[in-house]
Amino acid sequence: MSEDIERVLVTGGAGFIGSHLVDRLLASGHQVVVLDDFSSGKRENIAQHTGDARLLVIEADVAGDLDAALDTAHAASPITRVAHLAAKVSVVASLEDPLEDLRVNAGGTLRVLEWARRHAVRKVAFASSAAVYGDVAEVPTPERAPCAPISPYGIHKRSSERYLALYAEVHGLPTTSLRFLNVFGPRQDASSPYSGVISIFFERARAGLPLTVYGDGEQTRDFVYVADVTDALERALFSSPDVVGPLNVGTGVGTSVNQLAAAVLEVLGAQLEVRHDEARGGEIRHSCAVVDAAAQQLGFHAGYELKRGLAEMIDV
Ligand SMILES: NC(=O)c1ccc[n+]([C@@H]2O[C@H](COP(=O)([O-])OP(=O)(O)OC[C@H]3O[C@@H](n4cnc5c(N)ncnc54)[C@H](O)[C@@H]3O)[C@@H](O)[C@H]2O)c1
Repeated sequence: MSEDIERVLVTGGAGFIGSHLVDRLLASGHQVVVLDDFSSGKRENIAQHTGDARLLVIEADVAGDLDAALDTAHAASPITRVAHLAAKVSVVASLEDPLEDLRVNAGGTLRVLEWARRHAVRKVAFASSAAVYGDVAEVPTPERAPCAPISPYGIHKRSSERYLALYAEVHGLPTTSLRFLNVFGPRQDASSPYSGVISIFFERARAGLPLTVYGDGEQTRDFVYVADVTDALERALFSSPDVVGPLNVGTGVGTSVNQLAAAVLEVLGAQLEVRHDEARGGEIRHSCAVVDAAAQQLGFHAGYELKRGLAEMIDV
């Protein structure tokens, strides 16, 4: 990809995916502004860039006063593109406190879009989620499938997508929504609802403990490695204004939790028992994406199949 050097705002840049995007953008030569309230993100995720004058870190609430947070930085050197990843990521928390999810996940998106519109940003790329689909009948799922989210989190991701499309249409602000499947990789919190299971399997296998699978283990997920997701984000950030999406970002391959447990043990060379425990309620049975649209519109192809991604996690 050939890109001019620009200044990119990454909201949620101290989080799991956001910090990998910061690594990638700096490696591509860009300047980066991170805006994060460090509620789930960690300073250590971006500590490797301490002393790099191209990185500015701002501690602020994305659903607060963005003018106060960003205008000084913008005046010094204009922010030209925005990757909006800051969010409350827990589906369970969104059910317990839907108003806070609304404030941060829908309200935060709207504030980012308003700020971007007023400052003539060249592209806003947004981290949406396959949670917008709900318990969908068609698997693998194409973007045209009906959206019937079953949590406030999914509803607010969907309304954020609609806001991005609206700002593109009505205000001419270039936007792209990406729907991530189950992202995994180094720095992921074991409590992550998405692929925390991978971090947990790793921790237990390394400690020589048996792995626990809930239910029959035949539930499937589309596990996509974080380096592929940041590749898709960088492509979206620098894509043409007519790439609005939403675009699925996954591998197009469903992996069962039983297969995942076997793959973790294989990659670690461990021989441990895999136990089955009672199924947890409210889980979607199958989730997997059709990935043709991102291939066509962004030239994106997930390069890491599951075991290659797992192998990358060993040395970290
Ligand atoms: N991990 C996945 O598999 C996955 C799947 C689909 C979508 N997503 C989306 O990708 C994005 C990144 O997720 P992640 O897995 O890296 O989670 P994460 O929790 O590591 O990252 C979220 C970041 O947002 C920050 N944040 C939260 N509330 C904020 C606020 N009010 N103001 C400023 N910053 C705030 C957190 O401190 C954190 O750094 C999120 O928008 C999430 O919904 C993730």
